[in-house]
Amino acid sequence: MADASNASQVAAKWRKKRGSLIMALHEIQDVKGYVDWSDAVELAQGMGVSLARIYEVLTFYNFFKLKAPGKAVISVCTGTACYLKGNDKVLEKFKSELGIGEGESTADGMFHLQCVRCVGCCGLAPVCVVNGKTYGRMTPDNVPAILDEWRETFKEN
Ligand code: FES
Repeated sequence: MADASNASQVAAKWRKKRGSLIMALHEIQDVKGYVDWSDAVELAQGMGVSLARIYEVLTFYNFFKLKAPGKAVISVCTGTACYLKGNDKVLEKFKSELGIGEGESTADGMFHLQCVRCVGCCGLAPVCVVNGKTYGRMTPDNVPAILDEWRETFKEN
């Protein structure tokens, strides 16, 4: 699931389906954590919808985020396959490690934690996505290493 081209892939998937703009926007946000200008442009081109229409929808519904709510946006999939394979325990581990709840960001702005619906990798369940990078077959024990990985990533930048 490549982040850079995600909006184009989503646009291709939903292009021919009527009334699918909200679903397409959800799908982008589920993977990336937000929908920014470049996503909107790609989606407009790919779906044949005006940018004005996309921004009308993005700003009407307050659950859409227009910019990253944290440097690393952690999306824990709570779709059926992931839930049945124990992603609720993974979510609890992220919460306890970070000291935040679902939909919240750490005080330093490093991490944002959110739950999303199926991200389309059920074969790897349970799944989490951080800034477009997919982690499959998650267990609570994997959580500290993932957080360290992203802390290191941002330390280098
Ligand atoms: S239910 Fe989690 S990837 Fe499909």
